[in-house]
Amino acid sequence: MEILTGRVLHFTADPFLHGPEAARIDEAVVIEGGIIRAVGSAGALRAAYPQAAVSDYGDAVISAGFIDAHVHYPQTAIIASWGKRLIDWLNTYTFPEEIRFADGDYAADVAARHLDFVLDNGTTSVCSFTTIHPGSVDAYFSAAQTRGMRIYAGKTCMDRNAPDALRDTARSAYDDSARLLSRWHGVDRLSYVITPRFSPTSTPEQLEALGALWQANPGTLMQTHLSEQLDEIAWVADLFPDSRDYLDTYESVGLLGKGAVFGHAIHLTERERARLIEADASVVHCPTSNTFIGSGMFDMRLAQEGLRVGLATDTGGGSNFSMLRTMAAAYEIGQLRGTPLHPSQLWWLATQGSARALRAEQQIGNIAAGMEADLVIVDLASTPAIAQASCRATDIWQALFPTIMMGDDRAIREVRIAGAVRSRCRNEP
Ligand code: GUN
Ligand code: ZN
Repeated sequence: MEILTGRVLHFTADPFLHGPEAARIDEAVVIEGGIIRAVGSAGALRAAYPQAAVSDYGDAVISAGFIDAHVHYPQTAIIASWGKRLIDWLNTYTFPEEIRFADGDYAADVAARHLDFVLDNGTTSVCSFTTIHPGSVDAYFSAAQTRGMRIYAGKTCMDRNAPDALRDTARSAYDDSARLLSRWHGVDRLSYVITPRFSPTSTPEQLEALGALWQANPGTLMQTHLSEQLDEIAWVADLFPDSRDYLDTYESVGLLGKGAVFGHAIHLTERERARLIEADASVVHCPTSNTFIGSGMFDMRLAQEGLRVGLATDTGGGSNFSMLRTMAAAYEIGQLRGTPLHPSQLWWLATQGSARALRAEQQIGNIAAGMEADLVIVDLASTPAIAQASCRATDIWQALFPTIMMGDDRAIREVRIAGAVRSRCRNEP
């Protein structure tokens, strides 16, 4: 048993619905056996648990670890590729790189590299696409298992509009996904996610097969992309002339419901917004990707309307592995749309918001008794520029905001995975 003291940031409610008062700062958190036992004042918890060791983090913030709700780990090495929009970017940079994942050793190398990068940045859980190769799923889950992380991932399925070497079929996508699901889902802290890449790269037959697989496995998530760029939406309309809209290409085959997680969801029609809310599905805001690939500005009013909204880097379309940088981009997009986000809302999106998007809010993404002790310790004076701004703060939000806007991996003092201090696997200095 251990007591961690510092500025313990946690949530008692959703700040999009209840304002900044939904966040609380306490002095201490008690962890034992990988689980959070209690949170409260340091004096009271020391008195209640006199036998516990105490680790004092001073002025640093102790928070739930960040949760990156939409990434493509195979795109780690092509992050920051210049000058293309979505479809060109996929064809020029992404697909050639994904072909390399036929090699299991290469997949293992990138999987380990990606998880080390995200841990360096204080991210303790990720929901990732892989490639069409089953070995790319094995590589990622194996690397996550070694690190003890709660990870969500699935085989990316594509049976058209992709290079030959990156196409499966409706049948093989179903069979491979089913086999990987039974191999990995629920093993340790791993969850299998049924993963059609997006409607343009799946035939209606493949979407239908994956819809059937999802219906047969109600405890799993389904992830895909939705309405990221206008050219993409026009292409979907051509490919699916009978569909009412982009969402309908999924809805009509059983790929809409609780546990459906749609990346981007920028250019939605009124019908799509209403159906996403009614179905209690999730959407994921990927702000650095949406500016980097030139996709558009996500409408954060969806969070106020009750939709589950997560936050994500979307690497390698996104331009950074850091959820701090991602919060900063979300703030800037909010400003451009006239809906500036309070620091409590940004922090919520990166923790409990993403956990809710992945329907894991009972396990991760907050500090509360009974939840898993995946934690990040954040230094609020990690660079001279940040320190001189935050030292003038008169409340926690002013103290935190310079780190949100200017922080990076240097602000991450420590990461705990299920209570244990993260030991570096590969990037050992
Ligand atoms: N849409 C379909 N595939 C992708 C991808 O790999 N990245 C992004 N940003 N959008 C996509
Ligand atoms: Zn994506």
